[in-house]
Amino acid sequence: MIVSKPVLFSAVQPSGNLTIGNYIGTMRHWSILQNNYDCFYCIADLHSLTVQKKNIDLKKSILDTLSFYLACGVDPKKSIIFIQSHVYQHTQLNWVLNCFSQFSELLRMTQFKAKRNIKNNYIKKTSVGLFNYPILMASDILLYQTNFVPVGRDQKQHIELTRDIANYFNSIYGNIFELPEPLINQYGSKIMSLLEPNKKMSKSDNNQNNVIFLLDDMNSIILKIKNAVTDSQIPAKIYYNKEQKPGISNLLEILSTVTNKEISVLSKELDGMLYSEFKNIVSDCLCKFLFKLQQSYYCYRNDESYLNKIILEGATQAQLKSQKVLSEVYYKLGLVPFF
Ligand code: TRP
Repeated sequence: MIVSKPVLFSAVQPSGNLTIGNYIGTMRHWSILQNNYDCFYCIADLHSLTVQKKNIDLKKSILDTLSFYLACGVDPKKSIIFIQSHVYQHTQLNWVLNCFSQFSELLRMTQFKAKRNIKNNYIKKTSVGLFNYPILMASDILLYQTNFVPVGRDQKQHIELTRDIANYFNSIYGNIFELPEPLINQYGSKIMSLLEPNKKMSKSDNNQNNVIFLLDDMNSIILKIKNAVTDSQIPAKIYYNKEQKPGISNLLEILSTVTNKEISVLSKELDGMLYSEFKNIVSDCLCKFLFKLQQSYYCYRNDESYLNKIILEGATQAQLKSQKVLSEVYYKLGLVPFF
């Protein structure tokens, strides 16, 4: 008997440069997860249209993002890697689910409330796409009968909404959709800004010193960590406490990821150290880590014919899988089948 593995779905938007927040919160886990789950790793290019950005070369960003997936150890032989816009089933299910989603529930989404208020160089107006964004996300997830979605804490509400939509649909048409669950780990699911450690690190931050990008050169990494906000506790002490010591806790989380050591172990090792010494260790380890990742990244990025091959294979497989669910949904809705 073949026992199938649970299905796991994850995606990242290809908007601009990826940050260590994306890596630590999401992509770091992908290579390990693909051994225990049937994984779908998607590049959510349609999601990145929800806010209009100036000077962004989307095609380049998509290939950059794909190269990072591979550099992070995602293996196209084990997992299905694809670009969202290549699998038209996503937008088709999106429409159907629009009709099964509650306006008032979407209005409650924290991310929407936060993003609609950002008026900067990029975002001038609030688009309907930004409002609908979680429904497209629900479509991504539900099309593959996903059991688990590894997400940062900020996306948890969207997974709950996905479950609500699936439940509602199932209550009318029978058990069509699996109900997905979020996979969130204890540390590192939300890396904060370096200068404002109460705010999530975001690639669209106006202040680049808040953010470490995966492609940052070593000198800027050293400088950014050096300038990162800590606290003024006397005597200075290095330990993990997100409320009282957000800056230090954030740096500890970063260090823990790049060294693969538990925070509790690190706190003992760092006990009695000055903040400046601690920062030197963080930037040293982070630089070593990112240097290796960047080398692997450029290897893939410079081979576009290999990238195109993966894109084509991934889309073909994803279309095949998702069409099954979409056809069933259309059938249940009473739409006339198209042969
Ligand atoms: N909204 C996610 C983000 O910006 C990306 C995303 C799109 C996603 N579709 C998804 C994540 C489905 C998990 C599941 O990070």
